[in-house]
Amino acid sequence: MVKVKVLNSKDGYNILADYYAKKEKYWDSFEKDQVLPLLGEVKNKQILDVGAGNGRLSLKLAKLGAEVTSLDVSNEMLNKLKIKKLKLKITTVIGEAENLLFDNDSFDIVVATFLIVHLKDLRMFFNEVYRVLKPGGLFLVTNINQRKAPEIKVNKDLIEVESYYHRPEQVIEDLEELAFSVEQEKFVKEEDVWINQIILAKK
Ligand SMILES: C[S@@+](CC[C@H](N)C(=O)[O-])C[C@H]1O[C@@H](n2cnc3c(N)ncnc32)[C@H](O)[C@@H]1O
Repeated sequence: MVKVKVLNSKDGYNILADYYAKKEKYWDSFEKDQVLPLLGEVKNKQILDVGAGNGRLSLKLAKLGAEVTSLDVSNEMLNKLKIKKLKLKITTVIGEAENLLFDNDSFDIVVATFLIVHLKDLRMFFNEVYRVLKPGGLFLVTNINQRKAPEIKVNKDLIEVESYYHRPEQVIEDLEELAFSVEQEKFVKEEDVWINQIILAKK
């Protein structure tokens, strides 16, 4: 029997970058086009995409005229984005969500899609987002309903990336305790079961 290797995000996504990039439509299906409309006009806005990966969302935002900074712990995921970004206004940064390398009040919008499933301590991350957002800035975060991380076959190995389930009520509570105001909360559902929680919060 093949033993599952449980890896941290950096090591895991460095190995899974090809796999992740091939499944873009599948990841989109958890959002059902409900993310971008929540942000309104993004042209010329300074946007930080945390856990940007291969740039699934960063590229869409940059094509709409936003100035995007895409941050991720995995250099292999960001390499996929670098190949695709062409002449778009995207800056890539290797870094950690819990320790953002930016000044206070730097961004109009922060987005984090499919990221928090990999974060144990949401409050550390949310605190950092609050700090780097300009006053009145928006934070769009999604929370996938995943109680058990998938085991992904890569060559002869089975890989699992360290993951954590977050109850939707707890995510809202953590945001509000850190002084965010929650403007909108949506649930993408499949047969009456929620598969993704989408939250828009304001500083
Ligand atoms: C499931 S992918 C999501 C990628 C992209 N946001 C999307 O919506 O397609 C999760 C990404 O978060 C990154 N990540 C995980 N933990 C992180 C952390 N603590 N700091 C920064 N990036 C992290 C991973 O390397 C991976 O690229």
